[in-house]
Amino acid sequence: MKTLAVTGIGKSYDGNAALKDVSFSVERGTVLAVCGENGAGKSTLMKILSGAAKPDTGTLLIDGEEIRLNDPREAIDRGIATVHQELSLLPHLSVAENIMLGKAPRGRFRWQVDWQEMFRLADEVLHGLGVETIDVRQKVSTLSVSVQQVVEIAKALVGRPEVLILDEPTAVLSAHEAELLFRAVRSLARLGTIIIYISHRLEEIFEISDRVLVLKDGEMVMDAATNALDHDALIRAMVGRPLTAIYPTRRIRPGPTLLECRHLTRRPVFHDVSFSLRGGEVVGMFGLVGSGRTDLARALFGATPADSGEIWIAGERARIATPRGAVRNGIAFVTEDRKRDGLVLDLDLIDNAGLATMGNVARVGVLDRRRRTAMVGAKLDDLAVRPRGAFRPVRQLSGGNQQKVVLAKWLLVNGTRIFILDEPTRGVDIATKVEIYRMVAELAEAGLAILLISSELPEILGMSDRVLVMRGGSLVADLPRAEMSMEAIFARAAGISSDQVGAQARDG
Ligand SMILES: Nc1ncnc2c1ncn2[C@@H]1O[C@H](COP(=O)(O)OP(=O)(O)OP(=O)(O)O)[C@@H](O)[C@H]1O
Ligand SMILES: [Mg+2]
Repeated sequence: MKTLAVTGIGKSYDGNAALKDVSFSVERGTVLAVCGENGAGKSTLMKILSGAAKPDTGTLLIDGEEIRLNDPREAIDRGIATVHQELSLLPHLSVAENIMLGKAPRGRFRWQVDWQEMFRLADEVLHGLGVETIDVRQKVSTLSVSVQQVVEIAKALVGRPEVLILDEPTAVLSAHEAELLFRAVRSLARLGTIIIYISHRLEEIFEISDRVLVLKDGEMVMDAATNALDHDALIRAMVGRPLTAIYPTRRIRPGPTLLECRHLTRRPVFHDVSFSLRGGEVVGMFGLVGSGRTDLARALFGATPADSGEIWIAGERARIATPRGAVRNGIAFVTEDRKRDGLVLDLDLIDNAGLATMGNVARVGVLDRRRRTAMVGAKLDDLAVRPRGAFRPVRQLSGGNQQKVVLAKWLLVNGTRIFILDEPTRGVDIATKVEIYRMVAELAEAGLAILLISSELPEILGMSDRVLVMRGGSLVADLPRAEMSMEAIFARAAGISSDQVGAQARDG
């Protein structure tokens, strides 16, 4: 394949245009980034290129010849492989079966699967990605989301595609896994593969892409060579205005200790973790995948309680065995896994955003739906949830807008004193990130304690007053603002010296 092109693509859902007259063409060996705000139409465009959705208007062309894709199978047969934004593996099958789905090698008889060969081939694809630690016989349901994403990528690579579409692949990957992916993308591009890459992380766009398309409200508003752009120009194209300050400044006035944990342990994921949070503080928490930070957050929230150790809330010993208990103690938890802990996809926005507040409103008297709708609607507007209109199932929202609904739900709870935010800006566009950062700063200024768990060091550095670093289930550092740097934090998280971090960055 020399070129892949689309002309005049349009697509509407319920009369609302998700894409309007989109045309572009991409040559072999190019890494094309597609950017835009939440709901801009990126995933819709990718679904059309991968046969998962049909355009209302427009055509697809391969080497100038019009093609029609009736289903994903036909796209794959044409050499177009896609890693969608939402994970799509079959959880009860093994890693190897998922990777080789539909391509299982046959044994001596046609109805036999050659299992040894299948495991070997799956291993080979993973090794090609630089991944050596995944057991291909393991069931997918036992894997973390980041490892599942690696398996999705491996699966897309099996047929040696000529076009590889990656829709926010790094949203759930660790830094190391993301680096392996970038390496693979570069070598595929060198071999002539067309890569279409969606991400909200601007650093990645500049690191990996040759060209950038920007979608805004379904229209293509920019098509430019990456090296002709800078951060500000890209942000302006996406948001429609410059964003002057990403991270807010705020007065830091630490108040009384609101949360303290002492020797908190849950074997084997974390042990003997002690730290405290004061009102008015934003405390960052960093750790590589597997360091135990999410398990610790889930324990503080009572979702999977600790085995031993103590949690103290505002100077009193608290017993937090369930999320309900955590909410009673004034703890809110914005989760990284919106499908497991955050949202009920088939309920509408009002019901989702209202899930955590039902208690509050009911306590006043009756559960007044009209009042709840007004409260929730106002918060959804603050967060610019799109499209507007609260009576639609959350399932129909774009990924980033779903994340905003999770946040809205917790911002609506009265009496919250402690906010645990686990990757709150994952999959969220830059303008909304700025809005979320502003809200976090406001909550801290109002005297709440904030624990900000994040894999993005710029976010940690930009937002935190101090940072806790986890490694291998232990809390290994509590760094004050003056000692916070990219190198210092990463070195503690990886268990190496700061000099080695520099060396690693150069080699990587
Ligand atoms: N199945 C659907 N039913 C109704 N509306 C939909 C459906 N799928 C997408 N939309 C709407 O189409 C628009 C574009 O959504 P899309 O998922 O393409 O956005 P996106 O650019 O990928 O955003 P994000 O960065 O949040 O992933 C949104 O307004 C979305 O709500
Ligand atoms: Mg999307």
